[in-house]
Amino acid sequence: MTLKSLEAIIAEPSPENIRLAASLLKKDEVIGIPTETVYGLGGLISSELAISRIFSVKERPRFDPLIVHIPELAKPSLRWLSERKWIDIESIDKNAQASIEKLMHTFWPGPLTLVLPKHSRISDLVTSGLGSVALRMPSHPVFQALLNELNEGIAAPSANRFGRVSPVTAGDVKAELGTRIPMILEGGQSAIGVESTVIEYSLEKEFRLLRPGGLARERIEMILGRPLLHVESSSRPDRVLSPGMLDSHYAPEKQSIRLIRPIRALSDAELKWVVSHLKQLQPEMNRLSLLTPHGSNAEAASRLQTVSGLEIQRIELSLQASDLESARNLFAALREFDRSESTLLLIEPVEPLSGLFLAIDDRLKRASRPLPI
Ligand code: TXA
Ligand code: MG
Repeated sequence: MTLKSLEAIIAEPSPENIRLAASLLKKDEVIGIPTETVYGLGGLISSELAISRIFSVKERPRFDPLIVHIPELAKPSLRWLSERKWIDIESIDKNAQASIEKLMHTFWPGPLTLVLPKHSRISDLVTSGLGSVALRMPSHPVFQALLNELNEGIAAPSANRFGRVSPVTAGDVKAELGTRIPMILEGGQSAIGVESTVIEYSLEKEFRLLRPGGLARERIEMILGRPLLHVESSSRPDRVLSPGMLDSHYAPEKQSIRLIRPIRALSDAELKWVVSHLKQLQPEMNRLSLLTPHGSNAEAASRLQTVSGLEIQRIELSLQASDLESARNLFAALREFDRSESTLLLIEPVEPLSGLFLAIDDRLKRASRPLPI
């Protein structure tokens, strides 16, 4: 007899199921929870066992710290965060305090994560030993219902195996981690579709963009009244300020290659060079997917098909070239590519990098290798 492994139950977010989810968390379990950005793999920050389970379930290296999700409050203040023993308010410059509170009032609840000096009560397991903690107040009503039931912080990375595409539906979470967790709360497709924007108030008293995400950088800068410093990503774990910003991340399982210029800007000779390069990578290939982040790729696909003789599967993230729509479709499109018969993904570039296109470009770059053309 073979034993079938248990699979996560996808539970409708009824009051009884929210209570059930809360009781699982109190028993040190970790579960799938919907947010407006992507689905999270949540555990109570007070449970060391739950936090280590998050790392093992995700196969995530311990040096990569977690975001703490907090309950909604109409007018959150640093004083409140400090009374809840999440942050160390004394380490925050008085001038910066006003700016941080403006950001919280404008963008919380929502896709903004603030990295602030941590309270000593926050476990080093959550922050990977860093002196700061990442805090986010999610706006998804199911996550908030759960937080209200518990009145405690929930640490939650995206609910995917490390280095893989983030999940935007309960079904995606089940496909990633289904045999490793007991429950996933159903919350529909994530409305934003890319992870939160992470900014840090640093010891040098600067605001730095650690990860572009579901809240446009320009909107944050408007409120701050000055530009955010940008942190370049790195392939060296010891060099990164935000350890989740390693170069290779968000990758589909199959090969993906990105172009530096859109196909419409390539001459026939250049396009032929691209095709011969792709065929070198995959001599047996007979079908490839072409992903275009904004606008139609009908013409590009037909040129590519003529030059290559391959069948082209078209992926268009937003025909209207809307950054919001493109973000919402991004991870679903990468997953669909993985499930499709295409063996290679060719990605057209994003430009200009305004609004959420900055985050879309960031994720696509991490998901692929560049062709120098
Ligand atoms: O939208 C989101 O943020 C989702 C949902 C579930 O809320 N969560 C998410 O978590 O994307 P995760 O673990 O996949 O990404 C967290 C990012 C990583 O890049 C991590 O390195 C960074 O936040 N981070 C967390 N704590 C930090 C800290 N103390 N200092 C610097 N970076 C930190
Ligand atoms: Mg992640």
